[in-house]
Amino acid sequence: MKRMLITITALAAMAFQNARADEGMWLPSLISQRISDMQEKGFRLEAEDIYSINQASLKDAVVLFGRGCTGELISPEGLLLTNHHCGYGQIQKHSSVEHDYLKDGFWAMSREEELPNKGLTVSFLERMDDVTGIILKGYETGMSEKERVELVKKNSEALISEVTASGKGLRATVEALYYGNQYFLFLYREYSDVRLVGAPPSSIGKFGGDTDNWMWPRHTGDFSMFRIYADKDNNPAPYSEDNVPYKPKKYFRISTEGVAEGDFTFIYGFPGRTQEYIHSEGVRYIEETGDPHKIRLRTLRLGIMNRYQSESQKVRIQYSSKNANVANAWKKWQGEVKGIRKMNTVARKQEFEKEFARWAAGGEFDGVVENIERIYRELEPYQFATDLYSETIRTVEIANFAMSMARLFKEDESGTTFDKTKAEELANAFYKDYHLPIDKEVFTAMMSEYEAHMPCAFKPAYHNEMMQKYGSVEAWADYLFGTSLFADEARACGLTSEDFTKVKNDPAFIYFNEFLKWYHADVQPHAARLNQELQLAYRDYMRGQMVFCRTQRIPKDFYPDANLTLRVAYGHIKGYSPADGIYYTPSSTIKGIMEKDNPEIFDYNIPQRLRDIYAEKDYGRWADSSGEVPVCFIATNHTTGGNSGSPVINAAGDLIGLNFDRVWEGTMSDIVFDPEICRNISLDIRYVLFIIDKVADADHLIEEMTLVP
Ligand code: ARG
Ligand code: GLU
Repeated sequence: MKRMLITITALAAMAFQNARADEGMWLPSLISQRISDMQEKGFRLEAEDIYSINQASLKDAVVLFGRGCTGELISPEGLLLTNHHCGYGQIQKHSSVEHDYLKDGFWAMSREEELPNKGLTVSFLERMDDVTGIILKGYETGMSEKERVELVKKNSEALISEVTASGKGLRATVEALYYGNQYFLFLYREYSDVRLVGAPPSSIGKFGGDTDNWMWPRHTGDFSMFRIYADKDNNPAPYSEDNVPYKPKKYFRISTEGVAEGDFTFIYGFPGRTQEYIHSEGVRYIEETGDPHKIRLRTLRLGIMNRYQSESQKVRIQYSSKNANVANAWKKWQGEVKGIRKMNTVARKQEFEKEFARWAAGGEFDGVVENIERIYRELEPYQFATDLYSETIRTVEIANFAMSMARLFKEDESGTTFDKTKAEELANAFYKDYHLPIDKEVFTAMMSEYEAHMPCAFKPAYHNEMMQKYGSVEAWADYLFGTSLFADEARACGLTSEDFTKVKNDPAFIYFNEFLKWYHADVQPHAARLNQELQLAYRDYMRGQMVFCRTQRIPKDFYPDANLTLRVAYGHIKGYSPADGIYYTPSSTIKGIMEKDNPEIFDYNIPQRLRDIYAEKDYGRWADSSGEVPVCFIATNHTTGGNSGSPVINAAGDLIGLNFDRVWEGTMSDIVFDPEICRNISLDIRYVLFIIDKVADADHLIEEMTLVP
């Protein structure tokens, strides 16, 4: 018995390699449970300084930027710092061939010059509370998962309307943690007048482009600045000239002291999604099927975009943001697959599941892992169909646009109405960044892939009819793009409420609609039912893993998977070895920018100004002890997508950097964290200050900040 215990512990501990390494994304309201560990590792503040509902705390200086990035307040006048790639959509929307802010950068030299951004919001977390009891009120054992989902929805809605009743920009969500073993309420105050203050040229802010993306050593000046505006009472208000800069409860002091290997670092932000506790079958699907197919499809799509973009400056601007989005996940998935394999994740999880099943036999968790495995097998064809559908059919731009326009028609007894204002807005945004030849080639490539990989039993009749009628994907494309009214901006912009029939008979609309109908009839319901079963099984498995580790004395600190809620991740500055014979040191400097500089290569062609500064070593007060300007550093903090723009904080609670990426070899950390290899990449705050001061000549912004020492 004793021997068996040792084997279990060894194997299981291997599956959960973290023990007490820097893995983990912790809930700020429960940070008192971690604070002594943080302090042991160097942190000098208290739990109440991180999160408090009684006094201003660091949480009041951190925002959810849009719905997928993080930002932080760095002045008493609402100045906000985030990544260049987080503000990219806004910078791009304000850009044209005449005012190319992507290429040249943008700096508001006065408050009047700051640019408003429709649709952009930032959310401050007011508070978070465990509301499991309220959300599960009325739950009875034996309820089906469907009934439980409905109950949770009903109770959540009631709670949300109660806590947001006073208005003033309050917004709330209820989120499941640990697969619904726990529920938390998150109450936010959301501001919607957020103006662009500054961004360096892409040759700095996106330096290294997609070549360097997800890589170390890195030299990207990935930052942009915004300002939050409020009404006279400091409350959220829609854009108005009368609004005034928001006065934050708390903003970060900026440390110019610099960083060194071993220093404590703490990331405060909104990580989007991780799946640290999934079953080996889930990992196997990602590794063998999901990721490889998605990678292949995106390689094709990127090839088409890149070719057109390299031929025309107009198209380069039009597709820059779209291209970056496609390329980003494409590259990450490649690192993820490699990392999952290198960690031998599937086999290690299988070992763990075997031990777990043996332990669980006859008890509360008997059959749980076997059940999950069965559900995954049933789910796989539907999951594959979903992945293929979203990476092929859903990528055809003209078809998406046709559907959005069709949705602006409303029919009732009195006739058809059409929201002309909204239509104009949509059409302007769409055609500004649309290049039909790209879309048509993408259609052809993606439909050929769909044709080749979607199992026949799954393909809708519509698809087969079209293939029969036109004989080839190319001819189908000629027909669709040759006759759709949406291929012609003037025709699309001239639509009126009389034209609903025309729209419903348009080939681009029909294409999208037929596949949508197919997906919602033949794929989605099965996937949804199985995912619900999976959710239920995972709820048990999650609890089971906790009990198993506790009773078997496996040292494992559990944290809930990321779900775009505020988290704390702490670690320290540290290099790593990506492969045998290579060791990477943890920081980079301007010297490395000069080594990469190459006017012939778009991604590495820096502004002349930076070359001149370097030649004269005109660094002002921003050089480090080696005499160079620091640019980026890496650390062991556990982060994921959504943590972009997160403040990197030192032991004293001051801002030392801006998180923007992870190293490629460590991107499997969404599934399995390897403390040897997983590193987050941050921009050194001194490089931000250097660029603002020396390249942008915008030191009025630095004057707003509080620099220490
Ligand atoms: N890899 C970083 C992140 O996941 C930066 C992305 C910037 N986009 C790009 N394609 N370079 O978001
Ligand atoms: N660049 C990512 C973001 O947008 C952060 C990188 C990561 O996935 O860790 O959030």
